Amino acid sequence: MLLKKLILTLLLGGLIMTGLSAKTAFVYFSATGTTERMAKNTAKEMGADIFEIQPVHKYTDADLDWHNKKSLSSIECNDPKSRPSIKAVVSTSSTTAFDISGYDTVVVCYPIWWAYAPKIVYTFVESQNWAGKKMITLCTSGGSGLGRSGTDLSKFAKGVDFKGGKDFTRGSGADVKKYIEGLLK
Ligand SMILES: Cc1cc2nc3c(=O)[nH]c(=O)nc-3n(C[C@H](O)[C@H](O)[C@H](O)COP(=O)(O)O)c2cc1C
Repeated sequence: MLLKKLILTLLLGGLIMTGLSAKTAFVYFSATGTTERMAKNTAKEMGADIFEIQPVHKYTDADLDWHNKKSLSSIECNDPKSRPSIKAVVSTSSTTAFDISGYDTVVVCYPIWWAYAPKIVYTFVESQNWAGKKMITLCTSGGSGLGRSGTDLSKFAKGVDFKGGKDFTRGSGADVKKYIEGLLK
């Protein structure tokens, strides 16, 4: 009898946990792999789904040269209207396309470019229906941190419930998980 109860509790607990984690999705853009690592480690730790924003034009080293005012990243960062095209937002473990309707919370992860999120992340945010959804923003940076990048991005997510964000260039997946769970409490 006791064993039956225990098995039932474990089963139910497992189901509830799977249900909870399935409702959070990670969506990341990463040009050189740092943000990708952070997002993947955390999503794995949380058992959450993870999707990559793939640009139509893959950024080359020359595109990413911030010393050059004429590099693609500099041009995009200096143009408030820039919205680079997205090829796909796909699962990293299958070919499934991202569908926001299946999630309560979307954790948007990106590198800091000139103190803000890259413009392609704005393309993503503007293309989604955020009504009733929570958003958390995580970044990696060379040291300047999240700054106003999260709040600025959230302005373009109509109807979103923005919970906050943080720079996680350093820190384990477990640290990030703890931070996210704290925000969603
Ligand atoms: C075009 C460009 C602009 C950047 N601007 C900043 C900045 O303003 N502040 C900062 O701390 N780091 C800046 N960085 C560094 C990146 O934020 C950092 O290397 C990040 O971890 C890269 O992530 P990724 O590998 O996922 O692309 C910039 C990098 C690039 C390519």
